[in-house]
Amino acid sequence: MDRYAVIGNPISHSKSPAIHARFAAQTGQQLTYEALLGPLDGFADTVQAFRDAGGRGMNVTVPFKLEAFALAERHSPRALAAGAVNTLAFDAEGIFGDNTDGAGLVRDLTHNLGCALAGRRILLLGAGGAARGTLLPLLGTQPASLTLANRTVARAEALVADFAERDTHVPLDACGFTDLADREFDVVINATAASLADEAPPLPAGLYAAGALAYDMMYGRGDTPFLAAARRDGAARLADGLGMLVEQAAESFELWRGVRPDTGPVLAALRAQIG
Ligand code: ATR
Repeated sequence: MDRYAVIGNPISHSKSPAIHARFAAQTGQQLTYEALLGPLDGFADTVQAFRDAGGRGMNVTVPFKLEAFALAERHSPRALAAGAVNTLAFDAEGIFGDNTDGAGLVRDLTHNLGCALAGRRILLLGAGGAARGTLLPLLGTQPASLTLANRTVARAEALVADFAERDTHVPLDACGFTDLADREFDVVINATAASLADEAPPLPAGLYAAGALAYDMMYGRGDTPFLAAARRDGAARLADGLGMLVEQAAESFELWRGVRPDTGPVLAALRAQIG
């Protein structure tokens, strides 16, 4: 049996083992997938021990994505753009690092939610690792524009400056939340950590264009604070990040196994569990 694992701290809440077990059963792949609690001062040692014991690859979650980036000897372009790694693959050439978060988000938006991004006005909220990890794949969908808004404006400006050099032909701008007054967007994505504090980013009213989608990378039972606020402010459609979780897992699974699982039934099963 080929061995895989997700490493994080904390890790007991992780849905990744259940997702990958379903993918393996569905595609007939012979593999095991476990959850590993990484000591805060022992990430690299834990990865090395898993690899030495025959591990073929790992998913990496909070707080180790930057350490995983540093540990990888080769990186995919999207991992380089994200500056963070959520997927490690071990082979004879060493440790390969990828980042499937952004592709998972785009796939959930375009495939599961049927929300075409080309030609749309996207607003991305946040300027931390979660926002950075999704920028390159979002820009790759050729939206009409991409606006990055953050509580600390300087962080949004620094991130936009980094990506402006890539010449993606997508108008890209950075601002604070109050600067969003009188602007409208077709897709608004929350990549801030505000939901962790049970808060919504303080956004001005009137952001949502007709038919607009509000998307929270977080998920849980019922509306997140951001989605509750979006509902009150007239967003036509709401979605949480459960689909992104399943789709980033599918991207990792495909990288490791060369087979793309059918995410639909897995997402439906998880949704039924969460309620
Ligand atoms: P992550 O890797 O999850 O993105 P991070 O790098 O700590 O974590 O970034 C957290 C993001 O959430 C930042 O954009 C942060 O805004 P600041 O850059 O101004 O700190 C944002 N954030 C956290 N709590 C927030 C809140 N209550 N309201 C709005 N934004 C918040």
